[in-house]
Amino acid sequence: MALFGKKKKTEVLSESALPVHIGIIMDGNGRWAKKRGLPRKAGHSAGAKTFRKITRYCSDIGIKYLTVYAFSTENWKRPEDEVSSLMKLFKSYLEEALADFKDDSIVVKFIGDKAPFDEALRNLMIENEESSKDRDGMVLNIAMNYGSRDEIVRAVKNICSDVQNGSVLPENIDEQLISDYLYTSGQPDPDLIIRPSGEHRISNFLLWQSAYTEFVIMNKLWPDFETSDLDEALEIYSQRNRRYGGV
Ligand code: IPE
Ligand code: IPE
Ligand code: MG
Repeated sequence: MALFGKKKKTEVLSESALPVHIGIIMDGNGRWAKKRGLPRKAGHSAGAKTFRKITRYCSDIGIKYLTVYAFSTENWKRPEDEVSSLMKLFKSYLEEALADFKDDSIVVKFIGDKAPFDEALRNLMIENEESSKDRDGMVLNIAMNYGSRDEIVRAVKNICSDVQNGSVLPENIDEQLISDYLYTSGQPDPDLIIRPSGEHRISNFLLWQSAYTEFVIMNKLWPDFETSDLDEALEIYSQRNRRYGGV
């Protein structure tokens, strides 16, 4: 476990200074592989190991919600061999690594539209959700075929159909109701979003939910990301002054 000075980071930061919900845009796998003269899929495998390590660390230090961006609605436009190697990797991860999270009592959820994935992968996603839903540990949202605009379009359609069938009255549509129609329904908004690999953009991740989220951009590529980098992001976060439009 990473240390901060002589003490664990979480012993230094008071509990109130820790984010409840962290989002991570797991970016930079391709560049990591390129730097080493390896195929991009080697970067994705290395990134999957980092995912495992950082997820466990977040659970260990008491983070309540972690949302990781694994595959966007736009990532289908990548070359076919990259997409198919990612699908293979997702399958092996859902079979092995996620079973490991059982020891940490982690609740696994997928956010995004499962429909375009093949049946085997879809079933693995559903099995992981079903088998972990009664655990009491950290909630891990894995964003797969997730795009925030797509999420909002779906929410609008579902609200419209509920208005049509009379279960929602237009005058009752408010911010809370819209949040309730998103994949993250019932969860707190992210306090902190970390983007490794130095890109300063949101890339269609949690647009509605991140209205008042603190962003920390880090230069490390995701496969190189260490628990000490997470500590650094937490330290930066703890020094932010969140005003939510107030003074
Ligand atoms: C993130 O790494 C993984 C996915 C988007 C699936 P990238 O593959 O985007 O890596 P870079 O940005 O090309 O380095
Ligand atoms: C965002 O990264 C999506 C994931 C990390 C899964 P991208 O690499 O797809 O985003 P852009 O293309 O740099 O905006
Ligand atoms: Mg990228």
